[in-house]
Amino acid sequence: MSFASPIKAALGRTAFVTGAGQGIGRAIACRLARDGYDVSIADIPPAKAKVDDTIKEIESYGRKAIGVFADVKDAKQIYAAIDETVDRLGPNLFVSVANAGVTQVKPLLECTPEFVENEIRINLLGLINTHIAAAKQMVKQGAGGRIIGAGSIASYRTANNLAPYGATKFAVRGFTEAAAREWAQYGIRVNAYGPGIVDTPMWDHIDRELAKIENTSVGEAKAKRVKNDILLGRIQEPEDVAKLVSFLVSDEAEYITGQTIKTCGGASL
Ligand SMILES: NC(=O)c1ccc[n+]([C@@H]2O[C@H](COP(=O)([O-])OP(=O)(O)OC[C@H]3O[C@@H](n4cnc5c(N)ncnc54)[C@H](O)[C@@H]3O)[C@@H](O)[C@H]2O)c1
Repeated sequence: MSFASPIKAALGRTAFVTGAGQGIGRAIACRLARDGYDVSIADIPPAKAKVDDTIKEIESYGRKAIGVFADVKDAKQIYAAIDETVDRLGPNLFVSVANAGVTQVKPLLECTPEFVENEIRINLLGLINTHIAAAKQMVKQGAGGRIIGAGSIASYRTANNLAPYGATKFAVRGFTEAAAREWAQYGIRVNAYGPGIVDTPMWDHIDRELAKIENTSVGEAKAKRVKNDILLGRIQEPEDVAKLVSFLVSDEAEYITGQTIKTCGGASL
């Protein structure tokens, strides 16, 4: 049992976060910086301006931040991003968050093989390869670590027009359990967060696509689901997810591994 200060524990350690130019990833990166971590952000080149902005916010908390561009569809780029992180911030990788993901919204009968493959390559293969690349570095360092993945309430419940997305998130839950089993011996805990309806550009995209499918106006699909599904009465903010991640990587969660934890204001009930 440990009651050390969480900030003291994080100082001198690095957190690697994919897809942290905006949305949930940005909130996690900034929260981990406030918790004391230096942060390496892996996002795609078109997100550069947003990554630079996230870096500025992190530096305002007195922590180091770097951008290491990687498209998580390509495993080589993930490994290169981890190597660059260690080269520039030191061999202190302690937290890795495989957050990058996309949602594509289509009825199954309209899904092409390319559409399905893209979803799986980013949300699932991207996460698996990020977890393995990070764990290899953590094992080499010999000081344990915390590995976190982006699940969803869709890790537990499917939704119309989001079937390939839901399949990737169910698989994230399975992989989280499997990796936790193998890496506990190295002091690495593996968990995932399962948000509901978070106010990010991703949900704006879902809303626009659902408006086309459901023949409603933009904003209606999201507003309807927030009103009907979220028991706690407000849309989820990215910072709500970041709070859970902050807890999961801390010593307060020292007995938790292999879990995909829903944080959704009751939307999954
Ligand atoms: N928004 C929600 O309601 C919600 C709910 C449950 C789960 N999630 C999950 O949380 C994660 C983040 O969601 P968000 O809402 O912040 O999304 P977002 O679309 O707002 O942001 C995604 C980020 O990932 C980056 N990205 C996209 N493709 C990438 C790639 N191939 N390689 C590297 N980076 C890439 C984008 O540039 C962007 O910075 C996703 O995995 C998502 O599935 C989101």
